[in-house]
Parts: sequence; structure tokens; C-alpha cells
Amino acid sequence: MTMWGGRFSGKLDPAAWRLNASLGFDQRLAQQDLRGSVAWARGLLQVGLLSQEECDQICQGLEAVAAEFERSAFEFQESDEDIHTAVERRLGELIGPLAGKLHTGRSRNDQVATDLRLWLLENLPPVEMAINELQAALLERAESDLETLMPGYTHLQRAQPLLLGHWWLSHFWPLQRDRQRLSELAQRTAVLPLGAGALAGAPFPVDRMALAEALGFTEPSPNSLDAVSDRDFVAEFLFAAALTGVHASRLAEMVILFSSAEFGFFELSDAYATGSSLMPQKKNPDVFELARGKAGTLIGRLAGLLATLKGLPSAYDKDLQEDKLPLFEAYDTLVALLPVLAGAVRTLSVHPERMRAAIDPAMLATDLADYLVAKGVPFRQAHALAGQAVQAAAAQGLALDALPLEAYQQINPVFAGDVYNVFDPRHSVSRRNALGGTAPQAVRAQLEQARKLLS
Ligand code: ARG
Repeated sequence: MTMWGGRFSGKLDPAAWRLNASLGFDQRLAQQDLRGSVAWARGLLQVGLLSQEECDQICQGLEAVAAEFERSAFEFQESDEDIHTAVERRLGELIGPLAGKLHTGRSRNDQVATDLRLWLLENLPPVEMAINELQAALLERAESDLETLMPGYTHLQRAQPLLLGHWWLSHFWPLQRDRQRLSELAQRTAVLPLGAGALAGAPFPVDRMALAEALGFTEPSPNSLDAVSDRDFVAEFLFAAALTGVHASRLAEMVILFSSAEFGFFELSDAYATGSSLMPQKKNPDVFELARGKAGTLIGRLAGLLATLKGLPSAYDKDLQEDKLPLFEAYDTLVALLPVLAGAVRTLSVHPERMRAAIDPAMLATDLADYLVAKGVPFRQAHALAGQAVQAAAAQGLALDALPLEAYQQINPVFAGDVYNVFDPRHSVSRRNALGGTAPQAVRAQLEQARKLLS
């Protein structure tokens, strides 16, 4: 018998039953469901719908059910449609018909919204920790690789020299924003739907402020209709997860590229690389490729939920049952992925000589223009003159720093013998000492700033 069987005389088709049931995935909400029910029982006591003795009996029963879940001794039955009905059914077995009083004034609509919010509130910290772990790995790398020179790219074309420490930290900050986003999301998630009933609110003056407090929420929802249909918190989490995935994926893409023989900047540790079943020489960056791939899946979960929500008529509709899997799966993805990426980042080895060799003198053409600026040439003109030098060197098959002084002076007599000092990449990076730049001093300051944000 279902909890809603009163007005039915026929039974649900078995395949329709399986389609309708959510127990397969919402059993993950068991502890939240039980805590919500304990709070609700106390609310019923406070309005006189339960006696003290009844409330105690119900709460003890709920605690016994919670203990069964804790030791994995809870037995589900064929007839359990979802976690809410399973818990209520078991409570009935333990304390008898009194269990039937618990659902007074409550609906699974406000119940499930409450459970899911509770679940997210409890499970945001592990996601934040996982992000923090990857940030910590990036920070460690930035520290140990701080002064290593590397070519910096825009459009994937060689652009200007950078310090590797600066580059690692460029992947730290997006994750910092991700973590911040999650803590802001926690505030919006901590709004309590319980007491909204099916859609119209509870028919007795239950103290929803006290309920909110008891369950660790900051306030009760202001509108019962909105309360049962609002899944913004799930959508927001999926967005935060997708964006975190995108950030991990961008890091992953660069590590993959830099680990290729063509770049040869990085080599993955054996602990985080895989081989080929056919080609004996292969060392594949699967872990990073999975990061890239999973970002796509995370984006899909967000798009899927938004599509589910967009045409929903008022209040609760069963479509909303589709909110759980993407939420759980996005969570599982991040807590599994990020610590592995952290390990892979920590243990990869860097080949500074390959990075140094990839800094060709043309990457100092901006510095060449700056050199002319220092001699009073307006930047636009200096840019054009440096461009001419790049062209002349290329035409003669020479590196920019091998172009003879006569050739420079032919372009413009402002060029003097000291022009060759420009072609020291270390000099180039140390000039970029403004806040947030790649000069060693600026990167050290950045590192300090980053360290303070880690937990
Ligand atoms: N299993 C349902 C869900 O996950 C619980 C709410 C059911 N509410 C209802 N009116 N049928 O959304």
C-alpha cells in the first residue's frame, strides 16, 4: 500500500512504479530526512498536535531508524517509493500507528526541498576542501618553481616571458573565486522550506523560525508556493560545479600540452599517468583528459536542470525529482577529481631547460619597443620600429638578438650598442613589477596573498 493509496482502487503498473520511484538515488538523503522529521515532530508538539509523550516516542523511533541507516542495517522494501515513504513506513513498524501523526501539515513537497537543502549545506564543505587541496598544490608548485622562466602565450603564440610561479598562480585564483561562490551559495541555501506544506502553507501556527534554527537554517522561506518549487540552489551549485570544472579543464589542457614531446616542459609522475595497451612508449595524461572531459559533463548537468525548470507550472511537479542525480553526480565528480589533480600537479616534474629554450628572442620585441620608449620614442612608433627589426631578422634568418647593430641603426639611428641588453628574459620579467605582474618580487607578494586565503 502506498502512502497516497486512499483514493485509488487499482494498482500502479509495475513499470510505471519503477519509473516513478526515486528511492534508488534519494536514499542518500536518509539522515537529512530524519533530522527534518525530528524538527517537525517538535514543531507539532509546540502547536499541541502532539503530546510530549507522543513527540518523545516519535523522536526515539526516528533515532532508531537513523541508527539503522548508520550501521547499514536499514532494509528497504519493494513498496518503498522514495526515502520519505521508506522512513515513515519503518517508523510505523517501530512505534505503531502513532507514526501516522508525523506527516500532519507536512507534504513531501516541503519535505524533499528541506532534505535537499540540508544535504547541500552539509556537503558544500567537502567540495570547498577539494578545491582548497588543488589550490594548495598549485601554491606549492608556485613556491618551488617561482623563478623558473617560461614562455608565456596568447592565442597559443609565443608572447612574453613569464615566471612559472606566476603561471601556476594564474590557476589558483579562478579556484579561489569558485570557493567563494560556494560560500555565498551556502547563505542562499540556508532558507527553510519546511512548513510550506504541499503549496499553501501549514494550517496551524507552527513556529517556522524555531524550525529554521533547529535545522541550522538562517530563516524560513517567505512564500510557500515558491518554497516547494525553488531549486535555484541546485542550479547554482551545478553552475559553480561546472565553472570549477571549466577551471580544472583549462589547467588540464595546458598540462596536457606542456607534457607533449613537442613542448617537453612537464613530465607526469608515473603515479598519475597511464600507458597504452598497444604502443609501449606511451605515457598518457588520462587524469587531465578526464578533468577536461568531466567539465563537459558538468556543464551538461547544469543545462539539463535549467531545461527541466524552465517550463514548470506552479509549485511542485514531479519533474523536480530530476534535481537529485545531477546534484549528487556533480558533487561526486568534484570530490573525486580535484584531489587527484592536486596529486598530479604536486608530483609532475618540470624541465626548466626546455622552457628556457622555448623563449626565443622575438618574445622580447615588446621590451625592444620599451627600450625605444625609454629613449623618448612614442610607443606607437617604437612598436612599428621593433616590428621592422623582427621582420629584418626573419628575412635574414637571424634571431632578433643576432641582428647586427648596423641593421638596427638602418631601421632607426636611435638604436645603440646597449640594445642587446634587452634580450635577457630575466631582465624582461623583473621589469614587470607592478602589482599582479610576473616580476619575482610581485609574484612573491602574490604568493603571500594567496597563502592567506588557503584553509
Ligand atoms: N520523490 C519525490 C521527489 O524527489 C518527493 C516529492 C514527491 N512529491 C509529490 N507530490 N509526489 O521530488
